[in-house]
Amino acid sequence: MAEFINPAIVPKVTLPSGEEVPCMGMGTFGSDRVSPEDVSVAVAGAIRSGYRMFDCAACYGNEDQIGKVFKEAMDEGVVERKELFIMTKVWNDMHRKVEEACTKSIQDLQCDYVDLYFIHWPFPNYHAPFCDVDSRNPDSRPFSVEEFMDTYRQCEELVEKGKIRYIGISNMTIPKLEAVLPLMKIKPAACELELHPCFQQQEQFDYLVAHNIQPVGYMPLGSPRRPERDICPEDVADMQTPEMQEIAKAHDVHPALIALKWAHQRGEISIPFSVHNYTSNLKCVTEDPLTEEEMAKIGTLEKGNRLVKGQVFLWEGAKDWHDLWDEEGFIVK
Ligand SMILES: NC(=O)c1ccc[n+]([C@@H]2O[C@H](COP(=O)([O-])OP(=O)(O)OC[C@H]3O[C@@H](n4cnc5c(N)ncnc54)[C@H](OP(=O)(O)O)[C@@H]3O)[C@@H](O)[C@H]2O)c1
Repeated sequence: MAEFINPAIVPKVTLPSGEEVPCMGMGTFGSDRVSPEDVSVAVAGAIRSGYRMFDCAACYGNEDQIGKVFKEAMDEGVVERKELFIMTKVWNDMHRKVEEACTKSIQDLQCDYVDLYFIHWPFPNYHAPFCDVDSRNPDSRPFSVEEFMDTYRQCEELVEKGKIRYIGISNMTIPKLEAVLPLMKIKPAACELELHPCFQQQEQFDYLVAHNIQPVGYMPLGSPRRPERDICPEDVADMQTPEMQEIAKAHDVHPALIALKWAHQRGEISIPFSVHNYTSNLKCVTEDPLTEEEMAKIGTLEKGNRLVKGQVFLWEGAKDWHDLWDEEGFIVK
């Protein structure tokens, strides 16, 4: 019998509404390597290990299989729907049909409603599953405040209809946030962004906290098995840095657990994906915290190591992937 981590002892973060949610959820993106069946087996195990938060997405191609294991767990009395915090995302090809996309996710996930519904990317640029890094969609275009707000309004309507409880945004930049936050009627509860020791996005992290938006860190371990299209020769393997190795040795654990403790102590929700290590991942935030010195040491590891560069979303005329991230402080068009 796998170890059970009592959800009551998993530390919580407080959403802007005042609701407390777990500081860790399980990621469900198989990275084009782990089949939907294997991901759903891991989700079934994770629920029984004490996970209550799951980060899903329509484009991960496995909501149908994950929904079956949610239903089984509820039918077996392992968990009630209201104890789960289910997050999913509208994919880029459905920005004009958000309710249809959301309804499909709710049906596939068999979850009646979504707790936190993210706009996965801030533009409608679509790429096919398993595409290669040089593939470009001729319909891709730069960020537009009007288009984004049209998508966001549809999310606001879904809150009003009771289909989703909170709205999330993802893969944003400070200039884009500056442009859209004043236009929103219902503020976003959370923002999903890439966060790991060698890519800390401290400025955006602080901006989110200052605007009462909960940061949700994706790829918290530096995604060692990410899709081929997201692997570049210059990438750094976070967990192999001497500092992470040394701190891991001091705690007698794998560096992955150090990355997760750091994420938690920093104040994020982290959403590690795992088929083999999910129980130890959840357990690690309930015990043996990092010292202030260790936190400070990891704080020095920033290397600008962005792993999801997003090349496949580029539009005609864009220079390169840096254009997606508004690095000069203004929205690149
Ligand atoms: N919003 C977005 O645009 C966006 C983008 C990317 C990802 N995400 C979300 O973020 C989640 C996490 O990202 P990710 O899956 O790419 O990367 P990740 O969580 O950083 O890394 C996952 C990898 O780390 C390994 N791992 C997990 N725990 C471990 C441990 N304790 N010891 C050793 N290895 C361990 C896993 O292997 P095992 O399976 O063998 O444990 C898996 O290969 C995704 O699943 C998805 O839900 C969102």
